[in-house]
Formats: sequence, C-alpha cells, structure tokens
Amino acid sequence: MTEHEQTGIVTSVGSLGVDHAASFDRSYWNRPVLYEDPIDLQHDWHSFLAESLRLGRRRAMFRTMVAPDVMAEIRGRLPVEAALPVEENFLTYIGANAHLQTAIRAELLGVQPRELVLPAGYILDFATQDTDAGQLFSLWGQFGWTREGVENMITAGTTPIVIIRDIEERAIATMIAESLEFGDQILVELTEMAVADSEKGHGLASVLIRELARHTQNYFGGSPITYGEYNMTTGAHRSAMRAGQLPANSFSDGVLRDHVSIETGPGNVVSESSWSTRWLHDFMVLYQGSE
Ligand SMILES: CC(C)(COP(=O)(O)OP(=O)(O)OC[C@H]1O[C@@H](n2cnc3c(N)ncnc32)[C@H](O)[C@@H]1OP(=O)(O)O)[C@@H](O)C(=O)NCCC(=O)NCCS
Repeated sequence: MTEHEQTGIVTSVGSLGVDHAASFDRSYWNRPVLYEDPIDLQHDWHSFLAESLRLGRRRAMFRTMVAPDVMAEIRGRLPVEAALPVEENFLTYIGANAHLQTAIRAELLGVQPRELVLPAGYILDFATQDTDAGQLFSLWGQFGWTREGVENMITAGTTPIVIIRDIEERAIATMIAESLEFGDQILVELTEMAVADSEKGHGLASVLIRELARHTQNYFGGSPITYGEYNMTTGAHRSAMRAGQLPANSFSDGVLRDHVSIETGPGNVVSESSWSTRWLHDFMVLYQGSE
C-alpha cells in the first residue's frame, strides 16, 4: 500500500518507474531519461507494451523525454499522444489501448485565451479550513476521494490549492497542484479541478487554472513544467485554453485516449470488453507557456 493509499489522498501525477498496476487498468511508466536514439526508444516502448499486454492491462502509457530529431524519426512509427516542449526537447506521452476507442470524441477546435475576471460575489483563496472538508469531498468524490482523504489533505496542509468561495465562504470551486521530480525537471500537474453544479458556466474553471498556475510559479522552485490533463467530455480543455494554456499537440493532437475513468457527463456506449469502459474519457494535455 502506498503512502497515498494509506492517507486516502488521490494522486494524479504518479511516481517514477514502471507500474503495471496503475489506476484504471493501466500500465504506466514515468521514465526521466532523454532518448537521443530512436532505436532505443522503440525498443523500450515495445518491450513495455508487450509486458502490459501479457499482463492483460487495458492501456499502456509511457512518459519520457525525447530529443527533437528523435521525435521526427518516430513520427508515424510510435503512437505519440502528446508532447510538451521542454527547452529544446519534448516531454512525450506514448500510449496505446488494448481495446477500440470508447470515449465520446470531443471537439478539437480551440478557443481563444481571454481576459479573466472573477465575477462579483466570489472570493479567491489559497488556503483550506477544517470546515471545507464536506464541501471539498462533494466536489472530489467523482475523482475517487474519500472524506477521510480530504481531511488528511487539509490537516497536512502541504498541497498547493486554489479555492473559489461564494459569499457565504463555502468552497464552490477548487483545483490542486501536484509535483514530481523528473530527472532535472520538476513536473507540476494542475489537477482535481471541479466546480459545483450550481456555479458552472461562469468561467470559474479558467480562473482556477490561471490563479493556480500563478500561485505555484515560485512555490516549487526552478522553472517547473506546469501542465494539466483536461477532461474533454466536460469541456475542461476549453477552460484551459481560455486561461491561456497551450495544447501539447506539435506531433499529434495532444489527446490521451480513453485515459481515465470519471463518472461525469453522459457516459460511453458500452461494448464487449474485459474492462470497465463506461466512464472512460479522452484528456487533452495543455501546458503553461512562458508569460
Ligand atoms: C469542467 C468544469 C470544471 C468546468 O467548470 P466551469 O466553471 O463551468 O467552466 P466554464 O465556465 O469555462 O464552462 C465550461 C463549459 O460549460 C458551459 N456551460 C455554460 N453553462 C453551464 C452550466 N450551467 N452548467 C455546465 N456547463 C455550462 C460553458 O459555456 C462552457 O462551454 P464551452 O466551452 O463550449 O463554451 C466543470 O464542468 C466540472 O466541475 N466538471 C466535472 C469535473 C471535471 O470534469 N473536471 C475537470 C477535470 S480535468
């Protein structure tokens, strides 16, 4: 049992190394090395994928750093789903599913960044109170959080968070930042974005993304790579674009296919499959460019 499983805190950014028992029936490999030879990269991806298939896993996801000339070589040969520029190289997601596409295909057309103003009647906050537990649990239950996990996160007080409160100071929208040391880079994933049903459609999600990206800019030190994986079924990727984040789509469409399961939106048509595919969604990777 990992430390996070003991505390009930749900983590999205993952840990380093190969994990064939990752959430949502996935094999996940976070490998912080730079590939400068396409043969090495193809070899490592194919052996990882073969082992994942042998173990009967639903999805294999390999995240590593790739040099630009190698990106050009593997184009069309390896299933690159997303790639974020990091100095002259690319943090690259290579992924494949053992089943046909199931998630509802969302609109890829972008929206323009816009001036974001917190509407009147809302308060921006970067700190939690003990009394937030119930409200945060009601926002994050959909991501697999337990009430105890939320309480442990509040008590620990170490997770950077943005909260939008209503006039009665209830937390009605929130998002957190998680970090992972990835070689000599720090990855900062903005995640667990949720807005209460009664407050949706006022652009609060974009304010959360912008404010949390700013808030964490200096928090982790150095120049972190700040990104999010945004649920396309709920239009979260459009909120990120409005907040000025850039799609990681230089070598593909930047979409992680059938990546994660969340009980939101209409749900998928279920076809014959050994895995639970009803709530799988496509996620678009978007990152924070330099301001
Ligand atoms: C995704 C989510 C955070 C967006 O929050 P939001 O503050 O409503 O975001 P926005 O105001 O930017 O609006 C999002 C879209 O919903 C539309 N919308 C308008 N009124 C709405 C309403 N009453 N209810 C829901 N959506 C509405 C907006 O027009 C916008 O659509 P568009 O991009 O086609 O223009 C929110 O829907 C949510 O919590 N969803 C469930 C959890 C989730 O999917 N989180 C994202 C994880 S990556």
